[in-house]
Amino acid sequence: MHKATDPHDPAGTPIRRARLGLRAAFGREPAAVAAAPGRVNLIGEHTDYNLGFVLPMAIDRSAAVAVAPNAGDRCRVAALDRDAAVASFAGRGRADGTPPWARYAEGVVSLLRARGVPVPMFDAALASNVPPGGGLSSSAAVEVAFAVALCSLAGTTLDPMSIALLSQRAEHEFAGVPCGLMDQLAAVFGRRGHALLIDCRSVEFRPVPIDPALAGVLVVDSGVRHDLASGEYAKRRAECERAVAELAKADPAVRSLRDATEDAINRAGLDPTLRRRARHVVRENARTIEAARLLESGDAPGAGRLMLESHVSLRDDYEVSCPELDTLVEIAATTPGVLGARMTGGGFGGCAVALVEPNRAEAAGRAIVENYGRRTGQQARWMAVEPANGASAVETRAG
Ligand code: GLA
Repeated sequence: MHKATDPHDPAGTPIRRARLGLRAAFGREPAAVAAAPGRVNLIGEHTDYNLGFVLPMAIDRSAAVAVAPNAGDRCRVAALDRDAAVASFAGRGRADGTPPWARYAEGVVSLLRARGVPVPMFDAALASNVPPGGGLSSSAAVEVAFAVALCSLAGTTLDPMSIALLSQRAEHEFAGVPCGLMDQLAAVFGRRGHALLIDCRSVEFRPVPIDPALAGVLVVDSGVRHDLASGEYAKRRAECERAVAELAKADPAVRSLRDATEDAINRAGLDPTLRRRARHVVRENARTIEAARLLESGDAPGAGRLMLESHVSLRDDYEVSCPELDTLVEIAATTPGVLGARMTGGGFGGCAVALVEPNRAEAAGRAIVENYGRRTGQQARWMAVEPANGASAVETRAG
């Protein structure tokens, strides 16, 4: 995944590919183009839907959409990363025949229309260099890119928070994933050179500088994708809700695990599984706030140590890791130049994120992948990522 031989970006930037793809697939000139980044979460995992804290950064990988209105009665989308496969839908609610990859677009257009945004029927080309299914929010990037492009096509702008919320709803109602809001917030509000410490209850955030002189960020894709991901995700959410219901019996002020304390969890007589889930959330919230503080004060090694603790908690208490990710993190932890590492995103496969000493990302990435290959016989991929800006509409006359 090193940039020079990037299998996810074989032919230039997603924006360029989307423009060219629209011409190739439909013979149309783009009337609007937009791009939105993927994200990597540095710490604060499975805390967003518990109204806690997260520390993601948008990355320099994105999904781009080029659109033009059509005169027909269907919206058509060509997926350039799927051999230009074309899906079509009316875009007025969820249709049975829409393939899973096109549901994000179908969701966004349906929800925009439902709130009165006059989106015409359109042709679209979609290109992305965010590795899919790897915990880097490739789907939020697609949702947000479509939302921005289609608003632009309709001649409207929506405020950024509404874009994030509508994109999250598309994921819930059209893709069937009951995700929190972290990914869409990062895709919309990402800031170059910064991660965002987001309070998922107030939805306020504070940009936290990721100074390249202090640390670099590395993503290592284990290459494995476990099917249980979305079922287990929903199960974790339900377990957290059950834990809250129990805790609220003792203290009605507890409305989410954000309000819980470790003490209260220990006293509540929760069953052991719920107790571990709740403990992860409470400790992870504290780690996340602390990691942001450490990064702000220039203590990247301190933040790295918290990332390692986060991984252990996700592995043992929240149980969303998998043997491949555990091996990756274990290898990373002993690789020279690595300050800390953990699984990132929903879990059950996908990527690990590592904080590395400046200028050692490349050597560390190579060493991790080589060791992982030796130990498991499997091929991981690494990439250095930089904190990037959130979504943007692109000036269409720029060519
Ligand atoms: C997925 C979801 C997010 C978040 C993470 C876990 O990426 O989309 O909302 O819950 O899992 O932290």
